[in-house]
Amino acid sequence: MQKVTGLAELEAWRVRYLGRKSKLINILRSLSTLPVDERRDVGARANQVKNQLEQSLAQKKEELDRSVNLSLQKESIDISLPGQPYHLGRLHPTTRATREICDIFISMGFQIAEGPEVEWEYYNFEALNMPAEHPARDGFATLWVDYVTESGTRPMLMRTHTSPVQIRVMEHAKPPIRVIAPGRVYRYEATDATHEWMFSQVEGLAVDKNITLADLKGTLFEFARRLFGKDRKCRFRCDYFPFVEPGVEIAIDCFMCGGKGCRLCGNSGWIEILGAGMVHPEVLRGCGIDPEVYSGFAFGMGVERIPILKYGIDDIRLFYGNDLRFLRQF
Ligand code: FA5
Repeated sequence: MQKVTGLAELEAWRVRYLGRKSKLINILRSLSTLPVDERRDVGARANQVKNQLEQSLAQKKEELDRSVNLSLQKESIDISLPGQPYHLGRLHPTTRATREICDIFISMGFQIAEGPEVEWEYYNFEALNMPAEHPARDGFATLWVDYVTESGTRPMLMRTHTSPVQIRVMEHAKPPIRVIAPGRVYRYEATDATHEWMFSQVEGLAVDKNITLADLKGTLFEFARRLFGKDRKCRFRCDYFPFVEPGVEIAIDCFMCGGKGCRLCGNSGWIEILGAGMVHPEVLRGCGIDPEVYSGFAFGMGVERIPILKYGIDDIRLFYGNDLRFLRQF
């Protein structure tokens, strides 16, 4: 009995010692054939053995049942327990802002266009009315990655703005054109609370007959109203970019100081979000579009500056610092 470790073995043991064909049961069955004086003795001993075996059987059964129950309890699963929470990934705040900006312009009829981040000098500067030595190039501190071939070196760079996509689009498409081009840009400059060396822009371009500065102003004010709400103040004033004429800049009142002036807005009370203007006739002509027939407006906005203003983020460097405590808030 001690060797029995499971219910199946116990049943085999029962059949062997207490089953109908077991020796003991045969003895009990054949009692009537024994002489009377032997019958009483053998019967008493056989019944005694039978009782002991039945007792051991019952004991072992109880013991096994108990251990089966215990292991069942150990293995049982409480299906009412809450599951392990998964750490869900989330979109980066720049991606969210880019999508939000694109959605607004798409709803106004703009289409998405794309261009390379490693760009030819021609598209980043020359075609945008900034020939070599043009002083406006100083405003776009450049990371050069020259393209070396067997016949010499051709100037390539990390694009400093998304404006080269304007040229790539106008080279191929004929007006009417309405595109936006989101993407990353790079500048070889020191960082501070509102300036990063790598950031994102969304470029916009509309070219058609009779497009005026009023169309530019109406489109960008509607954009700002939808993104920031109608109560936010929006400043529209002259600026200079060689590829537009006239050029303008749009700024939103600083969320941190309410326009009084602080570290974030450089004490001006305003945070510039975009540069814009009417596409310069030379730029149109360079792309094979007749400026006597067509006109257009273009704009380029800094994407990170939008969540900075919307959520009150006081330093652009948080966007690419890879601090999950910051990123998990979006
Ligand atoms: C340009 O990049 C022009 N290409 C914009 C443009 C397009 C003008 C089409 C006219 C027509 P600017 O250097 O000002 O302009 O940059 C545009 C926007 O990018 C700024 O308003 C600002 O929101 C953002 N920006 C500029 N520099 C940085 C920087 N270092 N870090 C983060 N955002 C920046």
